[in-house]
Amino acid sequence: MQGKFHWILGCGLLCVSLLTASAQDTAKPADPGGHQWWQNAVFYEIYPRSFADSNNDGIGDLNGVTSKLDYLKNLGVDAIWISPCFPSPQKDFGYDVSDYENIDPMYGTLADFDRLAREAKKRGIHVILDFVVNHTSDQHPWFLDSKSSRASAHRDWYIWRDGKAAGQPPNNWISDFGGSAWQFDPTTNQYYYHMFEAAQPDLNWRNPAVKDAMFGVERWWLKRGVSGFRLDAVDTLFEDPDLHDNPVLPGKNAFGDAKEENKYNDKLPEVHDVLRQLRKIADEYDAVLIGETWTDDIAELNRYYGDGNNELQLPMDFLFTTVNKLSPAEFRKQIAAVNGASGWPTFVISNHDIVRSYNRYGDGEHNDQIAKLMAGLYLTLRGTPIMYYGEEIGMTTTPPARKEDVKDPLGITGWPEEKGRDGERTPMQWNEDENAGFSKATPWLPVPPSYKTHNVADESRDPDSILSFYKKVLKLRHTNRALLNGDYIPLNENDPNVLAYLRVYKNQAMLVALNMSGVEQTVSLDLSKSGFSSAAKSLVATGNSAAIGHAVTLDPYGVFIGQLTK
Ligand code: GLC
Repeated sequence: MQGKFHWILGCGLLCVSLLTASAQDTAKPADPGGHQWWQNAVFYEIYPRSFADSNNDGIGDLNGVTSKLDYLKNLGVDAIWISPCFPSPQKDFGYDVSDYENIDPMYGTLADFDRLAREAKKRGIHVILDFVVNHTSDQHPWFLDSKSSRASAHRDWYIWRDGKAAGQPPNNWISDFGGSAWQFDPTTNQYYYHMFEAAQPDLNWRNPAVKDAMFGVERWWLKRGVSGFRLDAVDTLFEDPDLHDNPVLPGKNAFGDAKEENKYNDKLPEVHDVLRQLRKIADEYDAVLIGETWTDDIAELNRYYGDGNNELQLPMDFLFTTVNKLSPAEFRKQIAAVNGASGWPTFVISNHDIVRSYNRYGDGEHNDQIAKLMAGLYLTLRGTPIMYYGEEIGMTTTPPARKEDVKDPLGITGWPEEKGRDGERTPMQWNEDENAGFSKATPWLPVPPSYKTHNVADESRDPDSILSFYKKVLKLRHTNRALLNGDYIPLNENDPNVLAYLRVYKNQAMLVALNMSGVEQTVSLDLSKSGFSSAAKSLVATGNSAAIGHAVTLDPYGVFIGQLTK
């Protein structure tokens, strides 16, 4: 492959030293408690189109990311996950890959990537790539060959079938992006399967050649020095080979299709064989596998950790994002559930596919305070947090107002009911300059008006900003063993307004109290079972929130984080 050729030529001594380093470091615990680096790290998702534009073409790029590494370090980020930056026709903005072993020219070159990786490493920041495992672009050479003839070498790398009858797809499966999941191709008079856009044909993971090729891609990047992958759409890797129809459910989805249960094309058990194999390779490099795992319950989440934790180290707990209201009871339930899971929890509150947390939890009046409240929650829980760019400054989801402005294929098909995901992918707001300091050219998506009040430059100067709050909590998290590794012990479990808990490590306990109501609250903490008796010493608090003896007084949506001793 073209990319491999570049690598061999361009690698030189640097790659040799990266290689040696990764082999030597394999699975060395990061702390005396035996935790691995990815358990103590704070991850940060970068949507590269929208982060920082170094060449002023309106689209972010890798050199832009490199220029912001000091910002990220200072914020308290230990690992960046870069959404797909590989060559792609950009039909789904990079989630349609046409070459897995190169960088899309719009984002830079492999040399730019190496520089980013080197500069990140200097600052102790790990680089994680987005591995689109379920499908390729329809412009990938594998697919171009596959569709060229029924006898082509890559024919069986994708899922081709005859229609049921003339003009009828092989079965009733529908695409996540609307309409049938089958696309007829007149060249060979067969249909190919695509769970997402028609431009994203599904790979046939039952074919050993596909496995070998994809495992080869994994190794290729690991050898280049990446610290792991976020595995895209892992649920959908396999399909029932007999193509049974999915059961039809009542009602229609946003695209007007009859709803169905994805019984035969989602979460098939074979997925786990592949995850175990990907993990084996990752383990050789002390790398981490993060999963885009949309699970219905903890039993399902447990399956992604694997028996004996031999699959994903960090399957994302999206159940947490389904608590879309400030409900202590609901959060308690979710936190307890994931603490009882068989592996280490992974928390996200926003990403490039869902409405930003600022909007989901904000009440329109106290949004900034609520953004701090949410940070106070998910950055202090037992588990690894994955932030989403802009969350730390309170960026809002700003969907397009008119159909003709929509860029996301999901919004183009689903308008007006489904406006797509452009709203949560708008340019990072760096300052109050034109285009929020993101680019000197017109950005690919408009900058939301909120950049005047919510941007990195202004918030860096304001000690009460959301950004300053994130920095304080992250600093504490990095230096406090109880917050990093301590057990989670819920307190005052029947309180309807305040979510309070301890994080306990040996003789140390961190108290976290979060007022999820718009009214000031004073709660007397029930520490009787915890073994800790001292009053809490305040470490981070919003407004006038404070501890008085064994009680805590919290402002509306206030946060108090303090230290207890035996
Ligand atoms: C994942 C990605 C999403 C993409 C889809 C298809 O869900 O997060 O952005 O559209 O996979 O690759």
